[in-house]
Amino acid sequence: MKFIYPEGATPLAHEELQELIPPHITLQSELNLWEQNNILLGEQWALRQREILTDQFVQTLHYKMFDQTWKWAGIYRQTGKNIGIDWHFIPTEIRRLCDDVRYQIEHQSYDTLEIAVRFHHRLVWIHPFPNGNGRHARLMADLLLMQNNFPRFSWGQKQMKIGNLYETTPIRKLYIQALREADQHDYAALIKFAMS
Ligand SMILES: Nc1ncnc2c1ncn2[C@@H]1O[C@H](COP(=O)(O)OP(=O)(O)OP(=O)(O)O)[C@@H](O)[C@H]1O
Ligand SMILES: [Mg+2]
Repeated sequence: MKFIYPEGATPLAHEELQELIPPHITLQSELNLWEQNNILLGEQWALRQREILTDQFVQTLHYKMFDQTWKWAGIYRQTGKNIGIDWHFIPTEIRRLCDDVRYQIEHQSYDTLEIAVRFHHRLVWIHPFPNGNGRHARLMADLLLMQNNFPRFSWGQKQMKIGNLYETTPIRKLYIQALREADQHDYAALIKFAMS
């Protein structure tokens, strides 16, 4: 199978390709559809949960989003990637992130939209899983918003005419550019993008 990676995506290692669960999938387009369906099931599960700011929820959500797709669903990566922290620190950093965000919400350290965007960025920055980090961290931010009685982010969907997030489209470029600004601690573009 030949995989085409959009800009800013994490390439799968060869061993990871062996870890695909559905045996009939041979095309990237088939995989995309299969994953999207699995993710919807995960989302339905997530909407019924109460406590989301725990390392256990972070892992279980990833599991529920990818459990019919990847054998490593819900398992933290144990390899280095071109993005993300040293994998040894993932469990500690996820716990710290959850604690920090709980504190930020309690004390309204930033407004809620900014807390959610910072949360999203720090989660993809940690890059806890071998794949699916972007989609998982977008849903985590959305769940945080909804728990605090905000509508979820649209993540560029209002600009649908210029593409989607999954391929190399102008929307994807805007998203990755906004993340790079967030890497430099400037969150304005990412907040704007998430609400666009
Ligand atoms: N410079 C960056 N800083 C922070 N996060 C980044 C940066 N570049 C890419 N990312 C994040 O990494 C994600 C890609 O990681 P991964 O492939 O694990 O997730 P994914 O859900 O499969 O992503 P996608 O479907 O968007 O490619 C991007 O969607 C984005 O959220
Ligand atoms: Mg990916």
